Amino acid sequence: MRVAMIGTGYVGLVSGACFADFGHEVTCIDKDAGKIERLRAGVMPIYEPGLEGLVAANVREGRLFFATEAAEAVREADAVFIAVGTPSRRGDGHADLSYVYGAAEEIADQLEGFTVVVTKSTVPVGTGDEIERIIRARRPEAQFAVVSNPEFLREGAAIDDFKKPDRVVIGTEDPRAQPVMRELYRPLRPLETPILFTGRRTSELIKYAANGFLAMKITFINEMADLCEAVGADVQQVARGIGLDDRIGPKFLQAGPGYGGSCFPKDTLALVRTAADAGSPVRLIETTVAVNEARKKAMAAKIAAALGGDVRGKTVGVLGLTFKPDTDDMRDSPALDIVPTLQAMGARVQAHDPEGANEAAHLLDGVDFMDGPYEAAAGADALVILTEWNAFRALDLDRIKLLMAQPVVVDLRNVYDPTEMAASGFRYASVGRA
Ligand code: UGA
Repeated sequence: MRVAMIGTGYVGLVSGACFADFGHEVTCIDKDAGKIERLRAGVMPIYEPGLEGLVAANVREGRLFFATEAAEAVREADAVFIAVGTPSRRGDGHADLSYVYGAAEEIADQLEGFTVVVTKSTVPVGTGDEIERIIRARRPEAQFAVVSNPEFLREGAAIDDFKKPDRVVIGTEDPRAQPVMRELYRPLRPLETPILFTGRRTSELIKYAANGFLAMKITFINEMADLCEAVGADVQQVARGIGLDDRIGPKFLQAGPGYGGSCFPKDTLALVRTAADAGSPVRLIETTVAVNEARKKAMAAKIAAALGGDVRGKTVGVLGLTFKPDTDDMRDSPALDIVPTLQAMGARVQAHDPEGANEAAHLLDGVDFMDGPYEAAAGADALVILTEWNAFRALDLDRIKLLMAQPVVVDLRNVYDPTEMAASGFRYASVGRA
């Protein structure tokens, strides 16, 4: 199959490289000429484990191409994917669909023969209808079907998520589109991956419902963590105790500083707006958004409390700035709330992140970026674990203690064991554990 992938952001690039690896011929298209030039030279615009090698291998095999112009690739394609960004529109939280509709117009002008136009971008319910209307208005005679095929890729594990998905959701009722979509995902057949065909609007909603539910699940365990602290219980054991129930499941029950990233914050807001517009408000998601925002803001006070309530003139070492490990993505990272609040309270912040420092440097003022975890601990009055990178899981605690001005560790990801930390001579605070 021939595939054109419009947009080489996170989703477009990972999906394009994986489809090429499935054996399809894929052209990834982006208007950013510099980005395309770098991709052709093998330089990735994002950090994602395994991506560089996957791109290089498929370029070498002659299955993966990069272009700045959509025309030729769209004309030849069996399927054209729209994988452009849908940021939150400033002010109101609605998804900004201008890039999606721009791509639809561009595709319309080039369609040749029957083509399946697929939205991979996360788009509100009804966007597929609008894309169809745009294309039909520009090219009344064109042969095409508009399909929704949401992605469920986690940053840091995206290639695995694409190649071994729990399910593939395909929203179309067009009988011409179904065989094309089946063929695209045929390599998943040996894994017996469920391929769920639904209506287009249903598929669009499944994506938001999935992210909304997961954000709510995390927020639930975060509230339980606060309650555990208040009543002297242990949230790790609560999570295990409820997670062993099949109906609940153990995943996404890790309490922390609040969810961040490019998806949950944006998608929960968009879901709230869509639901409000439809006159069917989603109050659980509204509350999830509010609770998570408040939580990120409350974390600085928790750190201050570990230092007796006052961080003025104190040095705080921060380990991890990205919203989760194995990515350089800083979007909506809790660090963006926590670090400036600590600074406003009078603290000096020195931080280390294995991959995110470059991104973070654009977003955080006045932070000293350190080369490693021990450098970030040196001279610090408190060391905060903000992101659970593997590199922070087995620190030499004796060395850390010797380096620090005071042996205070605030572990917002519950990486360490409270008893062991106490035995090592640390004053240790974590999330939802006495
Ligand atoms: C999320 C979803 O997990 C993907 O399925 C989805 O495709 C993607 O959004 C998207 O819509 O594109 P991602 O944002 O990469 O993926 O990261 P997650 O692993 O879901 O983590 C999101 C946030 O929740 C992070 O800040 C993480 O630290 C936090 N989290 C996650 C917790 O605090 N506790 C958990 O148990 C799990």
